[in-house]
Amino acid sequence: MQEMIETIRRRLLAWFRRTQRDLPWRQTYDPYHVWISEIMLQQTQMERGVAYFHRWISRFPDLAAVAAASEQEILKCWEGLGYYARARNLHRAARLLRDRYGGQIPCDYRTLQSLPGVGPYTAAAIASIACGQDVPVVDANVARILARLYDLEEPVKSAGCRQRIEALAAALLPPGKARAFNQALMDLGGLVCTPKNPDCHHCPLAEACLARLRGTVADRPVPARRRETVLIEMATAILSNEGRVFIQQRLADDIWGSLWEFPGGRLEDGETPEEAVIREYREETGFEVEICGRITTVTHFYTRYKVVLHCFACRLVGSDTVARLEAARDCRWVSAGQLSEYGFPAGHRKLLEYLAVARPEFLVDPCR
Ligand code: ADE
Repeated sequence: MQEMIETIRRRLLAWFRRTQRDLPWRQTYDPYHVWISEIMLQQTQMERGVAYFHRWISRFPDLAAVAAASEQEILKCWEGLGYYARARNLHRAARLLRDRYGGQIPCDYRTLQSLPGVGPYTAAAIASIACGQDVPVVDANVARILARLYDLEEPVKSAGCRQRIEALAAALLPPGKARAFNQALMDLGGLVCTPKNPDCHHCPLAEACLARLRGTVADRPVPARRRETVLIEMATAILSNEGRVFIQQRLADDIWGSLWEFPGGRLEDGETPEEAVIREYREETGFEVEICGRITTVTHFYTRYKVVLHCFACRLVGSDTVARLEAARDCRWVSAGQLSEYGFPAGHRKLLEYLAVARPEFLVDPCR
């Protein structure tokens, strides 16, 4: 057993020395860089994560810059990455570190976990990769590798299997080499031991891999039962008045919190999208509006939801004064040119992208 562990360690570390990816945070292992990369990569593909990482670091070169920024600036820089709670938590954590930890990112695994948005995985990644501490990391990549290496037959997300995987990751970790070893596992999972079509011919651990020996690689890891996709139908409309359009900022603790949007919402039973828009404007702002045209329908996926968003243009048939803000913390009338200064959730961004490409004249006079 110990001999096998030594073989796995030696082969994986040698492979990593030869083939490791040239990722920007690997130049310095600055804890701030490692932290940003880990938060970004949580739900994001590597290529996209690297592009956003460069953009982020040039905009916010250090922790102090994040702490000093407004939430709006933070969300704007995160726009397009999705799961915006990650950005809001980063911002809160940066301010906490500035106010209570002298602006330094701690290396202690427990202290790290007490920060907003830093769970066991991220704390382990920062402690090991930035600080070189002997803490094992288990993300989906590592779980997949271990499920294959040890041919685990239980669903990987079951409590029993998770415990087994954590114990295996801890047993495999070579003391003093956590930085390289943990990243080697991550790279192996990203480049070789991939979810589909793993490249076993180029795997440094092929000879030790039980699933490969038994011909079960394609069946490992055993997935959890699939939850069905839920369809959500929504409607929104761009309200224009005297050359400006109305936007509102969502409540901070709501889904897509603090991002900006055009008012709208879910269709109620038996309601048409047009009726939903008129009702939502009345409920959320007190505006009386009429639809003056259909723009498009955009579809996007969010965790297990498929969101279909019907998009219209509308105009006021009553007062242009907001009577109330039921679903928002702020609102503005802005020109078409100013829209790019605000962060929007995916559906509304797709609507704006559609308009920019297909109907560039639209925002000048939406109801013509
Ligand atoms: N995925 C998440 N974090 C990573 C890292 N530091 N290196 C490679 N892949 C990763």
